[in-house]
Amino acid sequence: MGEHLKIPPEKIPQHVAIIMDGNGRWALSRGLPRLAGHRAGTENLRRIIRASVEFGVKYLTIYAFSTENWGRPPEEVKGLMHIFEDVIDRELAELHKEGVQLRHIGRLERLAPKLHKKVLDAVELTKDNDRLVLNVAFNYGGRDEIVYAIQRIVESGIPAEDVNAELVSQYLFTAGVPDPDLVIRTSGELRISNFLIWQTAYSEWYITPTYWPDFNKEEFRRALEDYARRDRRFGGVSAAVDNKVHAS
Ligand code: IPE
Ligand code: IPE
Ligand code: MG
Repeated sequence: MGEHLKIPPEKIPQHVAIIMDGNGRWALSRGLPRLAGHRAGTENLRRIIRASVEFGVKYLTIYAFSTENWGRPPEEVKGLMHIFEDVIDRELAELHKEGVQLRHIGRLERLAPKLHKKVLDAVELTKDNDRLVLNVAFNYGGRDEIVYAIQRIVESGIPAEDVNAELVSQYLFTAGVPDPDLVIRTSGELRISNFLIWQTAYSEWYITPTYWPDFNKEEFRRALEDYARRDRRFGGVSAAVDNKVHAS
């Protein structure tokens, strides 16, 4: 079928994070309203979640609504809230059955109480699932996350000399989740847009011009294969070079 991964299991990224961008332009290019693009985007999301399970990705983080997205026209914001609620209503049972653990990153407080509760219930229902952890970044901003972490560190009275990178990580929404190995951004934009600014310090990037609703399993597979060929050095030297130096 040509869909099977030609990647050894140890080269599959454990954590993939996706900036699902380009829904609006996808719709515009078809003469449709932007919200039709968002709906098509959620249809695609369910395909990519299933592909993640199939490919053996353990953590998938998706950027669904940023702290900056509140600045969009009120009708679009309202529409996005509805779509999120709808997705939970329609997909939760199936996701639960498939062993997906849902988590939320970002702030729930600003969401309508009904949606807020739906998210908490979904998180509670799926908390023991372990096939795939799906982090939904909704009302998420990287700077907001760091500010919130600092506030809580200060409040808890931790002495300054005990503050280190590990401690900060524990105060982020992603506490306990390994950093993303691979970040995918669709629609060709070359920016981070306030997504996981702390956690992606050493992530690999895959940027594609494809709009999110068209980013299919086949392209996802290509992204993972591309990742598998990368040489992650984390500021050191490549393993191949290192072996050679030690051998001489
Ligand atoms: C991404 O698509 C979805 C959200 C930000 C909610 P956009 O809505 O940003 O689509 P473009 O970038 O305008 O095409
Ligand atoms: C990033 O996309 C946020 C999400 C995908 C939810 P945006 O479309 O909001 O980002 P900018 O405005 O192009 O940077
Ligand atoms: Mg966009």
